[in-house]
Amino acid sequence: MIYRFSETFRNFTSFLTDTMNPLSEIGKTVRHYPRAIGLIWRASPKETVVFSFFNLLSAAITPLQIWLSKYIVDEVIAAVQATEGTSTTHLRMIAILVGLQLLIWVASNAITSITNMLLYPLNLRVTYYTEKLIFQKLSRLDLAFFESPVFFDQMMHARTQSVQRIPNFVGNFAGLLSSILMLISLLIMVANLHILAMLGIVFLSVPHLVVTSYFGKRWFRLLFRQTAERRLADYLSNLLSTRESVKEIKLFGLHKVLINRFHVLSQKFVRENHTLSLTQEISQVVLNLLSTVSTAGVWLYAALRAIGQHITIGDMMLYFQASERARSTIVNVFRSSGTFYENSLFLEHLFGFLDLDPNAVEGTLQQPENQTELKKVDHPIRKGIIFEDVSFTYPGTEESVLKNVSFTIAPGECIAIVGRNGVGKTTLVKLLTRLYDPSSGNIRLDGIDLKAYHLENLYSQFSVVFQDFLQYHFSVQENIGFGQVDAGNDMERIRTAAEKAGSLARIEKLPKGFDTVLGRTLEEGVDLSGGEWQKIALARAFMRDAQILVLDEPTAALDAVAEEEIFQRFNELTTGKTSVIISHRFSTVKMADRILVLEDGRLVEQGTHDELMKRNGIYAEMYTLQAQRYS
Ligand SMILES: Nc1ncnc2c1ncn2[C@@H]1O[C@H](COP(=O)(O)OP(=O)(O)O)[C@@H](O)[C@H]1O
Ligand SMILES: [Mg+2]
Repeated sequence: MIYRFSETFRNFTSFLTDTMNPLSEIGKTVRHYPRAIGLIWRASPKETVVFSFFNLLSAAITPLQIWLSKYIVDEVIAAVQATEGTSTTHLRMIAILVGLQLLIWVASNAITSITNMLLYPLNLRVTYYTEKLIFQKLSRLDLAFFESPVFFDQMMHARTQSVQRIPNFVGNFAGLLSSILMLISLLIMVANLHILAMLGIVFLSVPHLVVTSYFGKRWFRLLFRQTAERRLADYLSNLLSTRESVKEIKLFGLHKVLINRFHVLSQKFVRENHTLSLTQEISQVVLNLLSTVSTAGVWLYAALRAIGQHITIGDMMLYFQASERARSTIVNVFRSSGTFYENSLFLEHLFGFLDLDPNAVEGTLQQPENQTELKKVDHPIRKGIIFEDVSFTYPGTEESVLKNVSFTIAPGECIAIVGRNGVGKTTLVKLLTRLYDPSSGNIRLDGIDLKAYHLENLYSQFSVVFQDFLQYHFSVQENIGFGQVDAGNDMERIRTAAEKAGSLARIEKLPKGFDTVLGRTLEEGVDLSGGEWQKIALARAFMRDAQILVLDEPTAALDAVAEEEIFQRFNELTTGKTSVIISHRFSTVKMADRILVLEDGRLVEQGTHDELMKRNGIYAEMYTLQAQRYS
C-alpha cells in the first residue's frame, strides 16, 4: 500500500510539472464541449431550452435564502430590543420574511422536480441519438475494421463508456453552470466583508482543482486500460448465459473454469478501482482541511466585526453562511470539473470514433480518386471475371493466405472451389465480392478492375450465402425478403425462392407460415435446426436479383437427401447466373463446369471433374477418399 501511495505521489508530481499550465488544461477540457452541446441540442432542442432555463433559475435560490435569513435575524434582534409600540411592526416584518422564505422553499422544490423530470427524457434522447450516430458510422466502415481488434476496442469505448458519459455530461454541465452563477453571488457577498476573505476562500480551494483533474486523468487511463479485459469479461458472461453455448458448456463441464476466469478478472477490476478511489478519498480529506481553514478565518473576522458593532448580527450570520456555502460550492465546482475533465476525454473518444477516417485502417478498401467516374456493372455480364496473380494477407497478420492465384470465370459458368479447411476458399470469396482488396494482383469484371466500380452497384451483383450466414430473429418473410429489400413484400417471389431452396414445406408447417418469427429472441419465436436455417439462407440468396451466385458450403448442414433434392435442380437454380460454389461434397462439385483446387493458398489444379480425375492429382485423391467412405 505504501508503495502504491509513493507511486501515486510520484505520478502526481510529474503530472504537476507537465500540466501546470492551467490554461492549456482548461482548453483541452472544454475543446469538445461546443460539439457536445451541439449534439445535445440536435438530439432534443425543446427539452434543452426548458431544462437550461430552470437550471439557471435554481442558481438564485441559495443566495436568496442566505440574504433573507440575515434580515430575519436582524428583525428578531430589533424586536427583542424594541419598546412596546414598535415590536408589532417587527413581528409583522418577520412574518412577511418567513412567508417569503416559505415561497422560496416551495419554488426551490418545484424547480428541482422540474429539472429532474426533464433530465431523464433529455438523457434518453441524447443517448439514443448518439447511438444512432455510431450505428450510422459503423455502416460506413469496411469489413477490415470489424476484423481488427484495435478497432473493436475503440468501438466498444465509443459505444459503452462514451455513450454513457453523454447524459452525465448534460447533468454535469448544467450543474456546473448554476453552481458557478451561485458561487459568483456568494463571493460578492463575502467580498462585502473584506476582499481578502473572498480571495482566501478562492485560493485555498485551488489545490482541489489540480488534484481532481489529476484523478480524472487516472480514472480515464484505468478504464481505458481495462477495455480489452472488459471485452473478455463480456464474452465470458455471454458464454455462460446464451442458449447456443450452454449445451456444450454443460456437457464438457466448463462452468467452473469459465466462472473462475470471470472471477479472476472481476477481482482485478475491483482491486484496481479500489486502490485509486482510496487514494483519491484520502487526498480529499487533506484538501478539505486546507480549504476549511479559510472559512474559519472568515468566521473569526466576521465575529470580531460584529462585536465591534461594525456589522449587525444578521450580517455576521450572512457571512457565516455565505463563506461556508462559497467554500463548499467552489470545492464542488472543482470536483465536478474533474468529472468534466474525465467526460471530455470520453467525448474525445466518441468524436474520434465518429470522425474516424474509413481509409485510415490497414486493409480497408482503396477508394479511387474520382468518385464521379465510378462504373456500373453491365447487364448481362459480357466477359466474366479474371483473377490475375492475386495474393492476399489479412491486415495485421504476416502470412499470406492466397498466393499468386490466377483464373477466370466465364459469364454463366459454374465454378466449384475445393480444398482442405483453411486453404483460403472463403477468403477468395471475400476478395471476389470486394469485401477486401487484394494485397497484390488484380481482379477484373468485364475487363475492369473491381475498384473502378460503384461499390453499392457491385455488391448488388452478388448473391452470397456465407458459411457463417446470418439467422435473423425476424419473420420468415423478412428472413427471405432481406435478399432483395425492395421486393420484401412480394409474397409470390418469396414463395418461389423458398421453394427453390427446398424450405417451402417446412415453412408451411410453421404455426404462422411466412409470418412466423424465427429464433428465440422473441418469446413467440420458433427455432429451426441448422439445416433448416441453411435452407432459409439459401432462399434468401435465390430471392436476390443478382448476376453472380456464391455459395460457401451451402449444404454443409443439410442431410444427404436435402442436398440431393437441391442439386437435382441445381442447373435450374443457376441458369442465367454465373456461380461459384464451395463444397466438400463431391456429388455437388462434380456438377460444376470447372473445378478449382486450392492447396496452401495456391491454385494447384483446375479443370472438369473428368479432366481432374484423369490427372490423378490432389483432386482425384480427395474424390477417391470420399467415394470409398460412402460406398
Ligand atoms: N479475418 C481474418 N483475419 C486473419 N486471418 C484470417 C481471417 N479470416 C481467415 N483467416 C485465416 O486465413 C486462412 C484461410 O481462411 P479461410 O479463407 O476461411 O479458409 P477456408 O474457407 O478455405 O476454410 C486461415 O488460415 C484463417 O486462419
Ligand atoms: Mg471457408
